[in-house]
Amino acid sequence: MSLTQPRVVEPSSRCKFPSKITVQILQERKRSAVPISSLTAYDYPTARLVDEAGIDMILVGDSLAMAVLGHDDTLAIGMDEMLHHVKAVRRAVKHALLVADMPYGSYHVSGDEAVANALRFIKAGAEAVKLEGGGGRVALVKRMTEAEISVVGHLGLTPQSVHRMGGYKVQGKTRRAIEQLYADAAALQDAGAVAIVLEGVPREVAANLTAQLEIPTIGIGAGPDCDGQILVFHDLFHMTFAPAAKFVRRFGDAAQMFRDGVELFRQEVCTREFPSDAESYHLSAEVREQGAGLLQLPKIREE
Ligand code: KIV
Repeated sequence: MSLTQPRVVEPSSRCKFPSKITVQILQERKRSAVPISSLTAYDYPTARLVDEAGIDMILVGDSLAMAVLGHDDTLAIGMDEMLHHVKAVRRAVKHALLVADMPYGSYHVSGDEAVANALRFIKAGAEAVKLEGGGGRVALVKRMTEAEISVVGHLGLTPQSVHRMGGYKVQGKTRRAIEQLYADAAALQDAGAVAIVLEGVPREVAANLTAQLEIPTIGIGAGPDCDGQILVFHDLFHMTFAPAAKFVRRFGDAAQMFRDGVELFRQEVCTREFPSDAESYHLSAEVREQGAGLLQLPKIREE
C-alpha cells in the first residue's frame, strides 16, 4: 500500500545561492535585496535535508527544548545539550551558515563565561552564535566580536524573557516600546552584530527598522519586509502538538504522514504482512542441507 505521494517542488533559481553562505554573503544579500531563507534544524537528517534544499542559514535554536525535548519553554536547556545538537548538525551542513543559539543562562552570569560558552560553539563548528536582548548585551556583543565570533542579535519577542514579558506576546506595539526597539537594534549593529532576528513585532515596525539598518533582519512573526525569514522546522511541517502561532504557515503535514505510516506498520505487523519473505535473510542451500534450519533447542535442565 502506498502513502500520499509528496508534491514535487522545482528549485527556484532566484532564491538559490550557489556558494557556501558566509556572514559576508548574508550582508551582501541585504544590499542586493535577495531574501535570506532560514530554518532551524536540530539533528543530522533534518539538517541535511534543509541544507541540500539550499536554505541560507540554519539555526540550532534553543527552541529545540520545546520542539524536540518536550519542555514548555526554552529556559531549561543548557550548553551541553545544545552542543550535542550543534555537533550533529555540523556533520550535515555544507552550504548554509550555521548559527548556534546561546541558551538561557549561558551568557547571563559573566562576560568571561559568555565568551567561553560562545567559543565552545565555534569550536564545535558553529559559524556564528545568536543571543537574545538589546542594549544590555552591547558590551558582550563587542567582546565576542573582538574574539572573532560573529553574533546574531534577537529582538522583539525574546522567548528567554517569557516570564518578564508575561507570556509570548507581540512586542513593539507602543511608541515607547518602538523607540526602545530601535535603540536596541542600533546599539547591537554598532556593537558588531552581523544580523538581527526580529520576532513577534508589527509589520510596520519591522519594515521601518529593516529599511534603516545596514545589517540584515531575519523575521519570524515580523511580516514580509524583513531581509529574510526564519521558521522553526517542526512548525513548518506540523510536527507540533500546540496550536500554531499566527505567523506559522504549514508547508507540509509530516505528523499526518508519520501517523499514517506508523498505523500501517502496526497493521502489517499484526497481519504478518510485514516483513515479507523478500525482506528476510535466508540460509544458504548448503547449510540448509545440513539440517541447520531444523535444529532443536538444547535441554538446559534435566526433568
Ligand atoms: O530558538 C529558535 O528557534 C529561535 C528562532 C525562533 C528565531 O530563536
